[in-house]
Amino acid sequence: MASLAGWPGGYPVTRGPDVIALQGDAKRSFVAGLFDQIASHYDAANLLISLGQTTIWRLLALRGLVLQPGDRVLDIGCGTGWVVRHLQRAYPGVEIEGMDLSSGMLGEARRRDPAGRYFLGDVRSIPRPDRSYELVTTAFTLRNFPDLGEALYEMLRVLKPGGRLLVLEAFRPAEAPAWFRAMHELWLRRVIPLLARPFGGPEPYRYLSESILRYMSVAELVQRLKALGAAVEEVRSFSMGAAALIVARPVM
Ligand SMILES: C[S@@+](CC[C@H](N)C(=O)[O-])C[C@H]1O[C@@H](n2cnc3c(N)ncnc32)[C@H](O)[C@@H]1O
Repeated sequence: MASLAGWPGGYPVTRGPDVIALQGDAKRSFVAGLFDQIASHYDAANLLISLGQTTIWRLLALRGLVLQPGDRVLDIGCGTGWVVRHLQRAYPGVEIEGMDLSSGMLGEARRRDPAGRYFLGDVRSIPRPDRSYELVTTAFTLRNFPDLGEALYEMLRVLKPGGRLLVLEAFRPAEAPAWFRAMHELWLRRVIPLLARPFGGPEPYRYLSESILRYMSVAELVQRLKALGAAVEEVRSFSMGAAALIVARPVM
């Protein structure tokens, strides 16, 4: 299991080194260590601190997908395997794999789903040939990636022509009314660290909350995808913009 010992005081979000601003290998080892640490209670904590919203967002994002038997799907940053299990149940003839950087999270996925196909990997270099999948999904991961440009490039690279990249991410609800933005920030900054106390302490969840508040907007993400030559087909926001689904296709 990766160690966080190198981070003074753990990984202080409010004091010490700015872990939100980390990039590259430093971010990779920080994030892998963090998810290894919270893996065993990630699902329970996530359900509580989001009041079940993350599950609803995943269900909405994955609803109505058209997949044929034999299609291949890769879920990047699969964590404990929620998306993989859900798609496998919904589309029994489809071949679904889950990849994650954290061996702790993958251990939880394999424990829940021993027959599932999971492998360890970094999105910066997906160990699969070009044009391998009909669909690549990724949920609540982008803010944790060591380099967003490399990640988007790689996820588009492994898609077959006509394939889709489906991104579900939490965002700052910039277009929502002021009262909602204030409540959202209060929830992330004050309530989540309190609720997370029984799940191994507040610091990992401070990082996760702060990374949402300091992340790019949906419009910026769409621009990044377009700059890589992708066609953005759908942008849908949930809960007044606290999360969004972005669907893109690589343009050959
Ligand atoms: C917030 S969790 C989301 C897990 C899951 N997708 C879900 O919906 O619950 C983010 C996941 O992304 C993984 N991750 C972070 N950086 C990664 C990278 N560079 N490559 C692959 N997975 C990564 C983490 O290990 C973690 O399991």
